[in-house]
Amino acid sequence: MRPTQIQERVKLFLRKLQAIGVILMPNVNKIEVEPIGFVKRTSRDEDVKDRRLISRVVLKNELADGLDGVEEFSHVFIIFWLHKISDYEKTVLKVHPKGRVELPPVGIFATRAPNRPNTIGLTLVELVKREENSLFVKGLDAFDGTPILDIKPYDSWDAAASFDVPK
Ligand SMILES: C[S@@+](CC[C@H](N)C(=O)[O-])C[C@H]1O[C@@H](n2cnc3c(N)ncnc32)[C@H](O)[C@@H]1O
Repeated sequence: MRPTQIQERVKLFLRKLQAIGVILMPNVNKIEVEPIGFVKRTSRDEDVKDRRLISRVVLKNELADGLDGVEEFSHVFIIFWLHKISDYEKTVLKVHPKGRVELPPVGIFATRAPNRPNTIGLTLVELVKREENSLFVKGLDAFDGTPILDIKPYDSWDAAASFDVPK
């Protein structure tokens, strides 16, 4: 049988499955992503919360064109992978908010804690400048070497007119 005939038969078989109500779903139980780049910073890990410090977000060379136009924005979201969180830490579902033991534990999704089932970090940073495949940003709380998953400009869509946080 020729490859085109095999493809036709597979298509026919799939159509028959659909006709009897079988829906073939893509596998969404595992998602693979590749870093688009990495954080470069010269300051110590202990200073990661110092929002005045500047980090460099270095994209892979082949993705540099994807930054064209970003200079027009004052702020961008950096979405990253907190790669130093251990497998055990990912299983902890309740934590003291902001590490303050005097406060009762809350669910991990009610916090910005780095240990979570999917260790995705999200930080709004000030965009200082772009140079080729690099963004220089102020206020990124990610260690040197942190893999970057995405960059999105900040605009009015995300601006809340007012908001509540726990006291
Ligand atoms: C509280 S998390 C919050 C990150 C982000 N602002 C958010 O809300 O998703 C930031 C802390 O994660 C830790 N951290 C930074 N980079 C990390 C990495 N690559 N792996 C593990 N922990 C990291 C640092 O201790 C930093 O203070």
